[in-house]
Amino acid sequence: MATTTRKKKTARKASTSGRVSAETLAKGQREISVSEFFAKNRHLLGFDNPRKALLTAVKEAVDNALDACEEAGILPEIHVRLLQKDESRFKLTIRDNGPGIVRAQIESIFGKLLYGSKFHRMKMSRGQQGIGISAAGMYGLMTTGKPVHIVSKTSRRKPPHDVVLKIDTSKNRAEVVKEKEDPKSDSLFPGGTGTQVVIELEGRYQKGRQSIDEYLEQTAIANPHAQITWITPTNETIEFPRAVDELPDEAKEIKPHPKGIELGTLIQMLERTESKSLSAFLQDEFSRVGQRKASELAKMADKLSSKTITPRSRVSQLGHAEAECLYKAIQEASIMAPPTDCLVPIGSRALLAGLLKEVQAEFFAAATRPPTVYRGNPFQMEVAIAFGGNLSSEESSRILRFANRVPLLYQQSACSSFKAVTETSWKNYGLTQPRNSLPVGPLVVLVHMASVWVPFTSESKEAIADYDEIRKEMKLALQECGRKLGTYLRRRKQMKKQSERRGIFERYIGEISTSCHAIVGTDPKKLYEALLKQATRKTREADQKLDLDGKIVSAKRLEQDDDVIILEERQVTMQEDGDEGLFDNDVVTTTKRKTRKKSKKKKKKTS
Ligand SMILES: Nc1ncnc2c1ncn2[C@@H]1O[C@H](COP(=O)(O)OP(=O)(O)O)[C@@H](O)[C@H]1O
Ligand SMILES: [Mg+2]
Repeated sequence: MATTTRKKKTARKASTSGRVSAETLAKGQREISVSEFFAKNRHLLGFDNPRKALLTAVKEAVDNALDACEEAGILPEIHVRLLQKDESRFKLTIRDNGPGIVRAQIESIFGKLLYGSKFHRMKMSRGQQGIGISAAGMYGLMTTGKPVHIVSKTSRRKPPHDVVLKIDTSKNRAEVVKEKEDPKSDSLFPGGTGTQVVIELEGRYQKGRQSIDEYLEQTAIANPHAQITWITPTNETIEFPRAVDELPDEAKEIKPHPKGIELGTLIQMLERTESKSLSAFLQDEFSRVGQRKASELAKMADKLSSKTITPRSRVSQLGHAEAECLYKAIQEASIMAPPTDCLVPIGSRALLAGLLKEVQAEFFAAATRPPTVYRGNPFQMEVAIAFGGNLSSEESSRILRFANRVPLLYQQSACSSFKAVTETSWKNYGLTQPRNSLPVGPLVVLVHMASVWVPFTSESKEAIADYDEIRKEMKLALQECGRKLGTYLRRRKQMKKQSERRGIFERYIGEISTSCHAIVGTDPKKLYEALLKQATRKTREADQKLDLDGKIVSAKRLEQDDDVIILEERQVTMQEDGDEGLFDNDVVTTTKRKTRKKSKKKKKKTS
């Protein structure tokens, strides 16, 4: 009690006598560097606990490696190695065969937060904000005091440069500790170019859900063109072999769409543009604005403005009021939707192949929606589902989430895709679903969003923000897959019912024919055969043509669908050891899968 009174007294004293002047406050006011901010708020970047920190570091480096290889047109070959130094300290090495990084850029890329090549452009890529790899290095430095070690080779003819650097958080700048040109490291890059990053950091390694293993497995599903080698702390080598020998089509960069721009941004663009006239500005800075559309926008803005606005108006002469009129004109005008060839979906076939490889189910379906737009940003949704087989039928179904081919492992319930799955009525497709929850049953749902700008809910890029347009597209794709599943399940149920009926018929036909023989002397064999023929015909007819609602189910419809795969009687293969795979005990990892006997599988691929 005594302490509380004392506290109160001091508080009162401070508020009456110890007034702080604005000048005193001013002495404490200073700029905060971004790296200081994120060092304190490392959870915002995905470094909230030692296990997640390891995953985040791997993810940032692998995403960068994949981005760099694809941009350079190189089929990615990535090595990830995690060496345990003591209980909570690890040495992470990630190497790629990408284009490498020129010496002059190394400091900024690895030693400066918010520095990158992807933020200012509108192009589909894994990284976007320029925080990833430098943040991983910073986390390593904060937790172990060890600098980041980079080896990069940009040309076959030049030796690799080898740089050791620290990030000075107060200045958000790199401090080079050591550097040299090192021909000895040539052997790291047999392809002639590439980058290797080594970070020492605090962490905890554990397999299972949300692990590095899971991240790499899912990365392999969404990036079948990549070859990934993973050496675990227990010195186990896991290979994720390349499944397709072609790079995905190159994603094109686009300009912003006028409808996706806010007033403040428009004003800034007007201030910064190098174009002289309004017409040139509109055509140069935006997509889908040609000369005619620019004149139309100028004319519409002119009607709303007190000052005259023409296509030839000088941009420098346009004030705030005119910018606002132009903004209104843009909102009112009808402008063609942005080009969508900038998006590269994974594609139904590749998605199905990826799921087929990783999930032991019996029914697979995929749907790719046409591209569309949120806030002026083109995006495209893809969904694939796997059902039955070895998946558990008692648990909630599982969602595999991807954004621009990157698996998202945390913050599931904050993600738009989670909402889309729970809002879909899976009961319509024959599954049970508790209210506002995921459906229960042997179901895996894969959702992929491809976009020039994925709206993540935070800097750690774990969940997709819940825009109505995005959720709607997700739901449409889910429904498309759901309908196919529903058809399949109805058919399966009907088939089961008919085979039971046939069994009953067969049981009694024998009885009937012997009884008839005893009573009226008919030939029992003849009668038996005639009745059997009838029974088979009756049950077969019902089998193939009617579903439970009495609607006609055409088996051909599912079987001719390119986006559906039905496997009959999948072999239950037990895992060879106790490792947890992507789907607990149901699945064996890719490498192990390779050694499994294939012959037992009776596979019917219907396309
Ligand atoms: N392995 C790599 N190979 C080539 N360039 C890279 C590599 N890693 C990073 N970069 C370059 O460094 C930049 C910054 O990377 P990062 O901090 O992860 O931000 P982001 O990926 O969001 O742009 C990237 O934009 C890319 O230009
Ligand atoms: Mg990155």
